[in-house]
Amino acid sequence: MSTQPSRDDLDPFFVFDYQPLDLPETESDAATDQRPTTYWDVQRGDRGPQPLPDWVVTDAGAVDTELGILKTGKEADVFLLERAATDGTGHSSLMAAKRYRGQEHRSFHRAAAYTEGRGTKKSRDTRALARGSSYGRQVAAGQWAYAEWEALCRYWSAGLPVPYPVQLDGTEILMEFIGDHDGVAAPRLAQTRPETELLAGYYEQLVRAIHLLVSHGAAHGDLSPYNVLVHGPDVVVIDLPQVVDIVGNPRGLDFLRRDCVNVCTWFAARGLDVDGDALFGEVTRGTI
Ligand SMILES: Nc1ncnc2c1ncn2[C@@H]1O[C@H](COP(=O)(O)OP(=O)(O)O)[C@@H](O)[C@H]1O
Ligand SMILES: [Mg+2]
Repeated sequence: MSTQPSRDDLDPFFVFDYQPLDLPETESDAATDQRPTTYWDVQRGDRGPQPLPDWVVTDAGAVDTELGILKTGKEADVFLLERAATDGTGHSSLMAAKRYRGQEHRSFHRAAAYTEGRGTKKSRDTRALARGSSYGRQVAAGQWAYAEWEALCRYWSAGLPVPYPVQLDGTEILMEFIGDHDGVAAPRLAQTRPETELLAGYYEQLVRAIHLLVSHGAAHGDLSPYNVLVHGPDVVVIDLPQVVDIVGNPRGLDFLRRDCVNVCTWFAARGLDVDGDALFGEVTRGTI
């Protein structure tokens, strides 16, 4: 005879109602790369700025599903992720997961010129970075992710057209996916052949973006038609880990000039009457 108490015998204090999560149950489901949402696992400062866009899924029982890879790169890979609530609201949204690699060396070379003057608080980390150990590479990947996270948060709040940063978790940034609802990513500007009217609009938006950064004492540092996504009539600037301090960094203005030249060269080749050095002069007028 069973001695198991029925639920009615238990003190209500010990009884709780729960809704089973819609987590994968079979082996093949598990293979589709699902995980419980990490939104509430990260520190408060590692969740995106207010006001929270309404598409951000904050349900603590949400499930993240990796839908595929958007792009592999030298320093980071970008994946397409869907975060879906399980609270019955049917709320779900797509995000781009940018994951910095700890195993690559290039970031060290890239680091030197961009990060002059940026300090590392922990001396163990400083030594590991200098040695280039695998722990050091992990630290570097985390620092690049953090630098990009910080830039996304700061400049999204300032009104720069960048993807909304949802959360930072170590070497992974989750951000707004720029593309359509089916998961087709917006093309890079470099892949597009816009008609004159759109072309002028894109250029104007980029000039405004450069101006805005300069007004914050910064330059993108790697601005090019490859780091600009085209979303209908709008541009979205991406890839900001190396944002440069144009005042504190002795080469800051060189980076700014290069950004201006990269942008103008592309637009000039498509028929716009623009010039990188002229733009550089225009955006720095009054600041240097
Ligand atoms: N938020 C995003 N939405 C859609 N596609 C993105 C997003 N972020 C990155 N991508 C895609 O991934 C590519 C690489 O991202 P990027 O940040 O430029 O990293 P990398 O350092 O590898 O150049 C981009 O060119 C773009 O195609
Ligand atoms: Mg890039």
